[in-house]
Amino acid sequence: PLKAFIFDLDGVITDTAEYHFLAWQALAQDLGITFTREDNEELKGVSRMDSLEKILELGGRTGDFTAEEKDALADKKNDHYLTLIQNITPADLLPAIKELITDIKAKGLKLGMASASKNAFTVMESLGMKSEFDIIVDAKTVVNGKPHPEVFLRAAEMLGVEPEACIGVEDAAAGVQAIKSAGMFAVAVGPKESFENADIVYASTAELSLERILEVYNA
Ligand code: G6P
Ligand code: MG
Repeated sequence: PLKAFIFDLDGVITDTAEYHFLAWQALAQDLGITFTREDNEELKGVSRMDSLEKILELGGRTGDFTAEEKDALADKKNDHYLTLIQNITPADLLPAIKELITDIKAKGLKLGMASASKNAFTVMESLGMKSEFDIIVDAKTVVNGKPHPEVFLRAAEMLGVEPEACIGVEDAAAGVQAIKSAGMFAVAVGPKESFENADIVYASTAELSLERILEVYNA
């Protein structure tokens, strides 16, 4: 039987993708690299350093920097991102998320977070959501990024439940892959064609409802 829900943060609980985009775009501009909103789609669920590598690749500049210089570039992007996310308030929860979380808790199910971001605690605090979750696993505490299942498996372990008793919720292809590799039931949010291996796909968070998810899960 179902015991827990494990949520991704960026793009599921709140839409930080625009802030990540603005911060990466400013950095890319400094480096003379064109970086579009479309390019940014590819970075959903991708770790900070892997994102930097992808942007440098776009500009054909992968070989131009030492490891130390790359760290400095990533730090610069993150400093900018941190100033942008200062604007986040509880009003920035995506549609239907608050209700879904309330319903999950009312059913006595556990609630965890598995985020690829090192800023997950900061964002959750700003959203007023930190204390709502039983556990939060962020990118600081895992070795392997999504699509590796580590972050979801760690979340299940911390919740004290088997992966098979968990439903994962994601907006990134890499994230859905991580959920499925962890042996969990996957709910995806986004365009249907992006999520071949998800168990249910919803076009937006507005369509999420516990009742509908459980109908499919229990079918
Ligand atoms: C999430 C976002 C990515 C971001 C990654 C790392 O997965 O979807 O766009 O690059 O987290 O975020 P961080 O806050 O650690 O730089
Ligand atoms: Mg995401």
